[in-house]
Amino acid sequence: MAPAVQTAEAPACWGFSFECTVAPLPLVLAGSRLFLSAGGDGGETMTVETIQELFEHGLEDVYHAEHELLEALADLEENTEREEISSAFAEHREETEAHIDRLEEVFEIFGEPPEKEECEGIKGLIREYEEFVDEDPSQEVLDYHSMAAAEKTEHYEIAAYGNLIPLADQLGMDEAADLLEENLREEQEALDELTELTESFEMDAIPAE
Ligand SMILES: [Fe+2]
Ligand SMILES: [Fe+2]
Repeated sequence: MAPAVQTAEAPACWGFSFECTVAPLPLVLAGSRLFLSAGGDGGETMTVETIQELFEHGLEDVYHAEHELLEALADLEENTEREEISSAFAEHREETEAHIDRLEEVFEIFGEPPEKEECEGIKGLIREYEEFVDEDPSQEVLDYHSMAAAEKTEHYEIAAYGNLIPLADQLGMDEAADLLEENLREEQEALDELTELTESFEMDAIPAE
């Protein structure tokens, strides 16, 4: 379903003209024109106005995020030497494949084909991690940092699913809400496991100063 496009002229006294859309989307300023971009597909302007559009926007965003994380988890696994940490990443990578499958079921229930909306949040977290790896830290530092980076992505996913579920409920899509709940539960379990691993990490392996 194509979201509605809405524009508004600024009052003449503001001294410039602009197009404005109201939505929790990236703000883009180009010359004297102000608009909100609908993602990474070339700056299409749109307004999210309904629960249905909010749900679709969030679903496409997390669908993209899960695909990005599938690759990132493979890198995390490869970069980590401690067996218990790398196997946690491998296990969650398998779960991430299931998350994508469940999201595709949710798209089907919603009545739309699966589409990705560029998830700048997850891309930023992954970029930060890659830049850290490029600095060539010691293996111990990298192992610890890999867990910290993965935990950040779990928090992102937990927030994403936590916000989609009430929207699915509101739209009367009980089965979709259950599928999203299942993803949320696995994200929370992955975060709990990573937190335990972080807490049991032998800090003596890293110089204090
Ligand atoms: Fe996930
Ligand atoms: Fe996850």
